[in-house]
Amino acid sequence: MTASTPQRGEMRYEGKAKRVYATPEPGEYIVEYKDEATAFNAQKRGGWQGKGATNNAITAHLYPVLEAAGVPTHFVRKLSDTEQLVKAVTIVPVEVIVRNVAAGSFSKRLGIEEGTPLDHPIVEYCYKSDALGDPLINTDTALSLGWATEPQLLRIRELALKIRGVLVPYFLARGVKLIDFKLEFGTLPDGTVVLADEISPDTCRFWDAETNEKMDKDRFRRDLGGIEDAYAEMLRRVTAPAAEGRDPRAES
Ligand code: C5P
Repeated sequence: MTASTPQRGEMRYEGKAKRVYATPEPGEYIVEYKDEATAFNAQKRGGWQGKGATNNAITAHLYPVLEAAGVPTHFVRKLSDTEQLVKAVTIVPVEVIVRNVAAGSFSKRLGIEEGTPLDHPIVEYCYKSDALGDPLINTDTALSLGWATEPQLLRIRELALKIRGVLVPYFLARGVKLIDFKLEFGTLPDGTVVLADEISPDTCRFWDAETNEKMDKDRFRRDLGGIEDAYAEMLRRVTAPAAEGRDPRAES
């Protein structure tokens, strides 16, 4: 049986890389992935034809992997090259970054060389605010300003680490080191906390496991070139079966 494609209703939200539309079903939204790329809080702009389709395909492949591992998510199904159907959630305005290896703002802030492995995974929290550039916060700030409750923050941390536990070996078995990644969570009307937003080269740092070549948005942020090819290669690897003979447990 093929499920029907719901009609797009009113646009509810437009972000830098996606638009969210209502559907005739109040509990469901359509997310459309755009071809635009932005960095440094939209001060740098770019993009290419097919970027939205690539990130939609990568996210739509990974969400069922996470669901199967017991991570509740907003994902319902992929609708088209650039669209997916999701459960309507209220987004918790706290972005969660999980770091396995020092890179990016962490390296800059603390003077730790990029590529330095971290003995313990680091969970960071940022306030989701384009106007303020998503500033780093701690959980007390989120609690005090009413952005999330204590049980929600505990659940978010637990899920973020569970997601790390699924994704690190998943990528390693496909020749990719997951350096760090950003997650967003939402709540369903019954209060359940679920993973929302995308998991893609826009929101993760991916390094080739053999060469450490960057295969993510840092190619755009740092003008390294070859970004379209890097995203296409990430889609190929994400959707490939795990490499035989590679035991991710030995390398994690
Ligand atoms: O820049 P920074 O090192 O803090 O980024 C950590 C991770 O979070 C990177 O994988 C980056 O792509 C992601 N990120 C994001 N959206 C932001 C900030 C960071 O997806 N607003």
